[in-house]
Amino acid sequence: MSRNTEDRIPFHRPSLGSEEEAAVLRVLRSGWLTTAGEARAFEAEFAAAVGSAYAISVNSATSGLHLALEAAGVGNGGRVVTTPYTFTASAEVIRYLGADPVFVDIRGDDLNIDPDGIEQALARAGNIQAIMPVHLGGHPCEMDRILSIANDYSVPVVEDAAHAFPGSFRGKPLGTIGDSGVFSFYATKTMTTGEGGMVVTDDPDRARRMSTMRLHGIDREVWDRYTSDRASWEYEVVEAGFKYNMPDILAAIGREQLRKSRRFLEARRRIAETYRTLLEDRDYLELPPDSPESSCHLYVVRLRLERLSIDRRAFVDRLAALGIGTSVHYIPLHLMPYYRDRYDLKPHDFPVSLDAYSRSISLPIYPELSDGQIARIAESVRRVGDGALGS
Ligand SMILES: Cc1ncc(COP(=O)(O)O)c(C=O)c1O
Repeated sequence: MSRNTEDRIPFHRPSLGSEEEAAVLRVLRSGWLTTAGEARAFEAEFAAAVGSAYAISVNSATSGLHLALEAAGVGNGGRVVTTPYTFTASAEVIRYLGADPVFVDIRGDDLNIDPDGIEQALARAGNIQAIMPVHLGGHPCEMDRILSIANDYSVPVVEDAAHAFPGSFRGKPLGTIGDSGVFSFYATKTMTTGEGGMVVTDDPDRARRMSTMRLHGIDREVWDRYTSDRASWEYEVVEAGFKYNMPDILAAIGREQLRKSRRFLEARRRIAETYRTLLEDRDYLELPPDSPESSCHLYVVRLRLERLSIDRRAFVDRLAALGIGTSVHYIPLHLMPYYRDRYDLKPHDFPVSLDAYSRSISLPIYPELSDGQIARIAESVRRVGDGALGS
């Protein structure tokens, strides 16, 4: 029986309140719409929240990853080690710079890049200029091993922390463990500015390079141009940079979201715990590992297809018919025509990613979910699974 649309539980819904509304109005009424005081304040507050020396606000994590790789010295003919089990942004930025991704398969337990595979890639392939681990769903990669391998080969680490705020690894905030880290504030992320991102680093040279490249390769930031004693027309272009700055309207939203981010995390953790309680007795489900330091951005369950008479697509369709919005993270990049054809990749080149993809479903996990909705989602998963038990 399908429910009417009012009953539909969307896969995601952002948590926005009167605070964000007031922040937007404040900026609109200020007469200054582009990057200025709000972005500066957001950067300072974000840097303090994660304990990094520099935070550089950008208009997306994709832009931030581009800047971070560029500042790490990635360029034409180079290579960057990353995972195929990610969104295309992680790999496309490598291509922006004329470098090539070297994909390393994930581990079956947490779906994160396998450090042994990184080591083998470094031993095998020349000219690797960076390692880019992705904390999938906010679950921390094994950063101590990754840093030690990076150290052995003197290769910088750029963390794709798009999912990872405010997760940590052994107490250290994700995104601050490598040479630089990049967070996403896209609409579905753990905190949002609609579109937006933040790059963090402790390295002053890298921070300066990213700041310059963020805004056309100009040696003066917009705000400085209009507030300092120097004439606003007086600036120097020192590079062919990009247009990646975060406007103040977005930064003002980000500041409010940041203030609420602990509460958001607690809500997502509670949902993950509730799913575990309500679903762990179903042996056709493989639940994500318990991860007390995860940002809990995604809740990816894997189906044990050998116990079911339907595949993942049918499972998703039946949940949709019950009014439950879900998603799939991810179709691995080696199956995507661009990467497949360019690098002559075969589906079984990355067997763990392929297997995870064929049986994963991401369930809704966001603070706006009511207890009743969480229970209904779990009950719907059980209903679909129990009704599709194999003979
Ligand atoms: C793992 C990962 N990296 C990078 C990005 C890019 O983020 P943005 O949309 O802010 O550019 C995303 C976006 O979903 C992502 O999932």
